[in-house]
Amino acid sequence: MNALTRILNSPVGRKVTMAVSGLLLLGFLVAHLTGNMLILVSKETFNHYGHTLISNPMIYLAEAGLLGLFVMHFTTGLYLTRKNRAARPQAYERNERAGYASRKTLASTTMIFSGLVVLVFVPLHIWGFKFGAYYESAEPGVRDLHRLVIETFQQPAWVIWYVAVMTIVGFHLWHGFGSGFESLGLSYRKGLRRFGQFLAVVIAGGFLLIPVLIYMIGDKL
Ligand code: HEM
Repeated sequence: MNALTRILNSPVGRKVTMAVSGLLLLGFLVAHLTGNMLILVSKETFNHYGHTLISNPMIYLAEAGLLGLFVMHFTTGLYLTRKNRAARPQAYERNERAGYASRKTLASTTMIFSGLVVLVFVPLHIWGFKFGAYYESAEPGVRDLHRLVIETFQQPAWVIWYVAVMTIVGFHLWHGFGSGFESLGLSYRKGLRRFGQFLAVVIAGGFLLIPVLIYMIGDKL
């Protein structure tokens, strides 16, 4: 085992891997949400944005990096959860908050559940949009992704599924962001935890708003 592998496999190394991959994934979510919001601007703007993204040869590198981050974040999270459970195989008899100083919240105790939901959601999501119906827009060679997204969110079942998953994503980010900075030794910056919670609400709220708005006023977009 070389020095780098030893560091990455150490308990601190795994926490840092978790934090860095999580924070980079958060960066992807901010960029993805910003791009998705263009659907509210105009059909042409959204389709051009999608076209520009997939026409750039660097997209393959970005996708490979994104997949790598997902795998790293998920496998390390699973490993740490199993290790924590093995360290205390017997459940607590009483499960109570330890008062003000406790960081235990619904979000913090359900991270593995919310993470698993995202793990189910992402492949389904990519299957539905990236590999979903191919409509040609008025401009030859430009995919009409706008039509696919609007058609999807005019179906109540998809809207309910997205609203439910986006709420769960919000819970994951609510705890994840602050916890990531704590693992990187930045917990002394009190504002960071609050900022993370603010960001969780903005990101989950923004993603959630898209299907709801399309369901309500999709025919005007
Ligand atoms: C309302 C919410 C969302 C909408 C409308 C949306 C829309 C889209 C669309 C249209 C694509 C296909 C892009 C293309 O092929 O050019 C896509 C890809 C993708 N989305 Fe989302 N998305 C949403 C939420 C999310 C969330 C919450 C996540 C992650 C947790 C996510 C992760 C991804 C990933 C990983 C891809 C594939 C990117 C690639 O391979 O280039 N999306 N999304």
